[in-house]
Amino acid sequence: MEIILARAAGYCFGVKRAIQVAEAAARETGSQIYTYGPLIHNRQAVAKLEEQGIKVIENLDSAAGEVVIIRSHGVGPEILNKAEELKIKLVDATCPFVKKAQEIARSLQADGYTVIVVGEAEHPEVKGIIGWTEGKGIVVQQPEDLQLIKPGKKIGVLAQTTQPLARLQAVVKELLTFGREVRVFNTICHATEERQQAARELASQVEVMLVVGGAHSANTQKLAAICRESGATTYAIETAAEIQTDWFKGVDKVGITAGASTPDWIIEEVVKKMTDIRQNEQTEQNPQDMEQL
Ligand code: F3S
Repeated sequence: MEIILARAAGYCFGVKRAIQVAEAAARETGSQIYTYGPLIHNRQAVAKLEEQGIKVIENLDSAAGEVVIIRSHGVGPEILNKAEELKIKLVDATCPFVKKAQEIARSLQADGYTVIVVGEAEHPEVKGIIGWTEGKGIVVQQPEDLQLIKPGKKIGVLAQTTQPLARLQAVVKELLTFGREVRVFNTICHATEERQQAARELASQVEVMLVVGGAHSANTQKLAAICRESGATTYAIETAAEIQTDWFKGVDKVGITAGASTPDWIIEEVVKKMTDIRQNEQTEQNPQDMEQL
């Protein structure tokens, strides 16, 4: 049985970086530190960070005077100001791509543009970006949402970093009918698309796909849906412990992919378990090889 790992799987650059920053800050501080919201949507990874003294808080008030990590999603200026008031030492792990989107939004707002952000209004990254427009930016998800807005003479558009390009394109197409100046910034990061494309390619070459990631991770579930659509029998698992040997009876090729919030060590455990299953399979098929050992 061949076991193939997708060419792009697991943590994106920004999340990996945020975790490294948090771990370094915990080592340096030598005592409890905090992250403003979970660094990552993965139970096992959050538990591991807690063991290192990195605890999640949802409210800055509970960490007055302490060290707080800003996660890869970033925050708006109101959070930075509040942290200063509370004498919190901030360690900024905002993904550089998100920072760039924040800076574009801030400067468009300062230059008198109506700022439109294509994305999910309730997502922390989008809330942060809107914060940099003095709360005046408008979030839209689809062209129809534009019917309700009354933009000024100049419009600036950007997107939440994980949005599909087609969604930004659809909104921009509609905005061009407004007859105003429209400036477009493609702030979409390629990590999501790259993982989806790699999963699609791999799923079309194998019989069984394992998709590793949190049961509540939207991007992991999306990867599982893509793999199913590509024709592979797909199992979405959180950890190696859920793997069942009989899934692979008579299977020649197994693919493995993982959501952007799945830590490397969980992926490694899955690969290890699959290698063990393959080993046992070979032993069962050729018991004389083992006897000779
Ligand atoms: Fe990740 Fe940063 Fe892209 S957090 S998805 S690398 S914008």
